[in-house]
Amino acid sequence: MVKKNACVFISGQGTNLNALIKSTRDQNFPIKISLLICNNNSAKGLLYAKKNTIPYIIVNTNKRNFENLILKEIKKYKISLICLAGYMKIISKKFIKNFGKKIINIHPSLLPKFKGLNTFERVLKNSEKKTGCTVHYVSEKVDAGKIITQKSFFIQKNDNEKILKRKTQKLEYVAFSEAIRKIYRYN
Ligand code: GRF
Repeated sequence: MVKKNACVFISGQGTNLNALIKSTRDQNFPIKISLLICNNNSAKGLLYAKKNTIPYIIVNTNKRNFENLILKEIKKYKISLICLAGYMKIISKKFIKNFGKKIINIHPSLLPKFKGLNTFERVLKNSEKKTGCTVHYVSEKVDAGKIITQKSFFIQKNDNEKILKRKTQKLEYVAFSEAIRKIYRYN
């Protein structure tokens, strides 16, 4: 099977990137990670790229033309899927249009609930019964594109933000790969 070239965007820890790398070791997994884009030169997640010899580019998102620079690299690597895995920068409408292929994002809530940042804090404040994660297509509106996969769990009495984050991320590691299999209809 010919794997599609995917590019992962990160800004920080990169634990979702690591989970994706593990999935790509399965020869039947539909993508390979051909490029990593990171906008933070001290991101811990860069270590996963180095360890697995994945080409990576550190982009200065304060530069006016940074999205064009990314697009240029993405063309070079014939990327057909972009996975946003904790990339803390909003992707512009122009970028989405110019790339013209699939862009997906992982978000730590059950969308459409709790779009944006500080999800765990808001989930607790709102006394939600359940929470979880969502993998969705990226559209012009933040955290509002079509949902591909969701995974959820019931919140326990003693769960605090830290615990919710840990439980949510555990589900994210499964959900991201599951969503990619679903996109390419491989199970
Ligand atoms: C994830 O929890 C994801 O939901 C959010 O950013 C976090 C990134 O974590 N978009 P990591 O960098 O993959 O560890």
